[in-house]
Amino acid sequence: MENKHICPWWMGYLLLNPVRRISHKPEKILEPYLKPGMKAVDFGSAMGYFSLPMAGMVGPEGTIYCFDIQQKMLGKLTSRALKQGFQGIIKPILIKDGEPFEYLKETIDFVLLFAVAHEVPDQQKLFSDLSDMMKPGSLLLFAEPAGHVTRREFEQSLVYAGQAGLEKAEEREISRSLSILLRKR
Ligand SMILES: C[S@@+](CC[C@H](N)C(=O)[O-])C[C@H]1O[C@@H](n2cnc3c(N)ncnc32)[C@H](O)[C@@H]1O
Repeated sequence: MENKHICPWWMGYLLLNPVRRISHKPEKILEPYLKPGMKAVDFGSAMGYFSLPMAGMVGPEGTIYCFDIQQKMLGKLTSRALKQGFQGIIKPILIKDGEPFEYLKETIDFVLLFAVAHEVPDQQKLFSDLSDMMKPGSLLLFAEPAGHVTRREFEQSLVYAGQAGLEKAEEREISRSLSILLRKR
């Protein structure tokens, strides 16, 4: 499988920079999709730029599963969640090689996949795993950084998503991103 560049752990701090809110305001981007009590996934969460606002939106009855392959990202996410009183809502999950996500099968109401897919060597498996977790009819917001990912690469990701049963729900414009809202058939 092709080696992809993985965002280094220290970059997690840059991703938390409040200046990012000018172009990527989590509440504005996610507010249409998250409701109290929902179970959602922030896949490739890093230190939780999106995960913590997501926790605020689903509230104490909800759950945000935060997947990452770097423990340093999840360590910082955990301490941030604790500080904000979200420790009961945020579930950090360190992914090890080829781990199945059987325990979440068709339980998830919403998935965020933001600036991650281009770092994942096997996108076919990525979309298949995410689709397996999602309830039929649920939504996945997929965004890639326009500077790193070409339109052609993005379209190829959408082919993999389609093969996994994720089809276009609607166009979604997000600043400096290639983005789309997908729905599980
Ligand atoms: C560019 S960061 C984006 C973080 C976050 N989604 C955001 O927008 O702030 C990409 C994150 O994806 C994680 N990542 C890379 N490959 C992954 C994989 N195969 N599974 C889960 N996470 C992965 C990296 O460790 C990193 O934390």
